Amino acid sequence: MKIGIIGAGNIGGNLTRRLTALGHEVSVANSRGPHTLTELAEETGATPVTVTEAARGAEVVVVTVPLKAVPDLPSGLFEGAAEGFAVIDTNNYYPKERDGLIAAIEDGLTESRWVERQLGHPVIKAFNGTYAQDILDAPRPEGDPERLALPVAGDDEAAKRTVRALIGELGFDTVDAGGIDDSWRQQPDTPVYGLRAGVEAVTKALAEASPERPAAFRA
Ligand SMILES: NC(=O)c1ccc[n+]([C@@H]2O[C@H](COP(=O)([O-])OP(=O)(O)OC[C@H]3O[C@@H](n4cnc5c(N)ncnc54)[C@H](OP(=O)(O)O)[C@@H]3O)[C@@H](O)[C@H]2O)c1
Repeated sequence: MKIGIIGAGNIGGNLTRRLTALGHEVSVANSRGPHTLTELAEETGATPVTVTEAARGAEVVVVTVPLKAVPDLPSGLFEGAAEGFAVIDTNNYYPKERDGLIAAIEDGLTESRWVERQLGHPVIKAFNGTYAQDILDAPRPEGDPERLALPVAGDDEAAKRTVRALIGELGFDTVDAGGIDDSWRQQPDTPVYGLRAGVEAVTKALAEASPERPAAFRA
């Protein structure tokens, strides 16, 4: 598959490593420009590009930047993407340490609904509660009793299927966590956030979440 990754930090970098290793054609962008990504490109065979080029021809686009940077992404970000492309949103709202106050989220909008409004395209929420290092270290084959499961939320069922299949290839099971209005169940400080467990425990943790935003994740 052709995959565009916007953000080349902890998550974007490790997704670039694993997806290229699986044979996908990856374009990767950061804020400082492709000339700063030569090391990652040499290591992985990914193509370093500008942010506006990242989605060209892509069937999957991953947006993995600090949440507060999402509104700074250029308009026309998805111009030239493949028909029916899926957008993965890995982002979390960290108002105290990083993002500052985002009123709509404080007022109860899910983080991913806010992201998709900024992007002007539906998103699939995935990897947001996954330790970046686990993308490299935790993959296991299908059927392995130790295989971890990741929650995946989204309104576009076809895009969700694409993303779940890709995560399966990466070596993780998935649990359907519902639509984007349900995605508070996997936001920071919920039982499933950072949980390293299989399908059963992840399903249980999603069910046990409280819709109330925890104080630690309020501005
Ligand atoms: N770290 C984790 O384990 C983890 C786990 C799950 C989810 N997340 C979430 O996933 C997102 C990414 O986390 P991370 O830890 O990978 O972040 P990170 O290491 O800080 O990397 C952020 C990346 O985004 C790029 N970026 C920033 N502003 C940009 C802009 N305006 N346009 C294009 N690229 C821009 C940065 O490029 P430059 O370096 O060139 O500025 C950098 O490559 C966050 O929302 C985070 O909460 C993180």
